[in-house]
Order: sequence, then C-alpha cells, then structure tokens
Amino acid sequence: MGNIIDGKNVARNLYDQLKEKIDRLKESGKSITLAVVKVGDDAASEIYVSNKKKICEKIGINSRIFTFPPDIKEDKVLDLIQILNEDPEINGILVQLPLPKQLNERKIIENIAPNKDVDAFSYINVGRFVVDSSIKEALLPCTPAGIMRLLDFEDIDLSGKHCVIINRSNIVGKPLAMLMVQRDATVTICHSKTRNLNDICKTADIIVSAVGRRNFITKDMVKEGAILIDVGINRDSNGKVCGDVDFQSVKDVASFITPVPGGVGPMTIAMLMENTLKAAGAQSKSDEI
Ligand code: GUN
Repeated sequence: MGNIIDGKNVARNLYDQLKEKIDRLKESGKSITLAVVKVGDDAASEIYVSNKKKICEKIGINSRIFTFPPDIKEDKVLDLIQILNEDPEINGILVQLPLPKQLNERKIIENIAPNKDVDAFSYINVGRFVVDSSIKEALLPCTPAGIMRLLDFEDIDLSGKHCVIINRSNIVGKPLAMLMVQRDATVTICHSKTRNLNDICKTADIIVSAVGRRNFITKDMVKEGAILIDVGINRDSNGKVCGDVDFQSVKDVASFITPVPGGVGPMTIAMLMENTLKAAGAQSKSDEI
C-alpha cells in the first residue's frame, strides 16, 4: 500500500509555526487581520468561511466577516473593498467565490489591492509568481501552493517527472502547472476535451485530479508507483465526503496518495493563513520605507 499523505498533520505543523510568529508579533503590539467578504448564502461558502474564521481564531489572526445579500449591487461590494484597501488595520482581503451572477467576479478581484490579495487571484499576483515564484513576498494561490507544500513535506523531487493535472482553472490547474514547471517537471494539463485521458494518466509520475467526480481515477489509469494528489470534493453513495480517486483500489498501486478528507483540503486554508502573514510582513516593510 502507498504512503498516505496526511494533509491535516502538515497543516497542523504549519499552524504551530504561524502561531509562534503571530504570538511574537502580538508581544510587540502588532496584530494581523483578515477580511472575508461573502455574498449570499451559498451552503458550501458558508462552511468554507466558517472554517476560515475558526482557523484564524486558533492561530491568533483577527477575522472580520462582511456578508452581503445575494442581490447586492456591484458598486456596494466595490465600495467595501475600497474601504478595506485603505484600512491599515486590514492585512488580507478575500472575496469568497463563487459570486452571484450579477457581479463581475474578475472586476471585483482586480479591485483588491494586490498586496492584500491573499487568494493571489489578481492578474498582478498571478503574473508575478508565473514569472518567479521564488520571490519571497510572492503571494501564491492557496490550493496549488498547498499541493507543492505536501510534495515538499514528503521530499518528492519533481525534476524530470511527468505531472498530469486534470483541471485547467485559473485557481488550480493553470497556476499549479506553473509551479511544477518551475521545479523542472514536465507538465500535461488535461480537461474535458482531452483525448486518451487514460493513456496520458498511465504515463504520469504524478496525477493531480480536480474534476469533481467520484471514482474518476481508477486503478487501470495509474502507473505502478505513481503519486496521486486528489483535489476533488464529492459525496459517495452513502453521502460521505470523497475525492475523485477510487482510493481503495488506487492506494495499492500508488507510492503516495492524498486522502479526502484530510489531504489537500486542510492545506488550502493553511496556505491562506500563511499568505495573510506574508502580506502583513510585506505591508509593514513598505510602511517603514
Ligand atoms: N471558493 C472555493 N475555494 C475558494 C478559495 O480558495 N478562495 C475563495 N476566495 N473562494 C473560494
């Protein structure tokens, strides 16, 4: 059986380190604040936002949650973002996605000050890390950064490896491909129009699946010893949370595999917390100049 990558444990270790840093900052009279903007009452968003709030509390980051009704006008959201951009007490701003249809998601993201954009979704932050993710202050998108952190934790060297990513979104597939290329991997991005997906997967040293369909990755698609990173969040026939990978059968051929829950998921929030601290650090440096 392959090694199960314990994302909860990696996230916990990171929280301990972040909490130590935050405690030290508090001793010198500084505090860190994350603003979360939520529009409407999407059930999944409610859970994500409440989880983020809980983790903030756990490690000592102040959180401020701003909730708008689902039919809010775009100007009102932009006005709030402007206020948060200008508020020196706010270090990070996150607009929970998806947004209701009347709101222009891209316009709203682009209005967040880049140095407070802790999701790292804005053009300027994406462009920055695509060119060079080794810039220390670069804010990296949380799910891809969390996946890289898991691979690093297990000492998995990407150089020369064939990584197959089944997802082409701006949040997961595209940024992850860039981070993997920067580590000298050979990357294939697959999507709904890809032909011969099974054959491509079979050549992969690492498969990252973010499709959103349970049992999408089966044992016959996986090379012996491959590494499986499962970003999917689905429900099985009993209503239990599961990923895209048929875990029970694939774990026997994989060398490493992430479980769902407890794999990539905890890392996404952990990287958001790290970004918030990173953003605060960069802001305090720029204040000193
Ligand atoms: N909705 C689902 N995942 C995310 C995320 O990582 N950030 C934001 N802002 N919204 C999301």
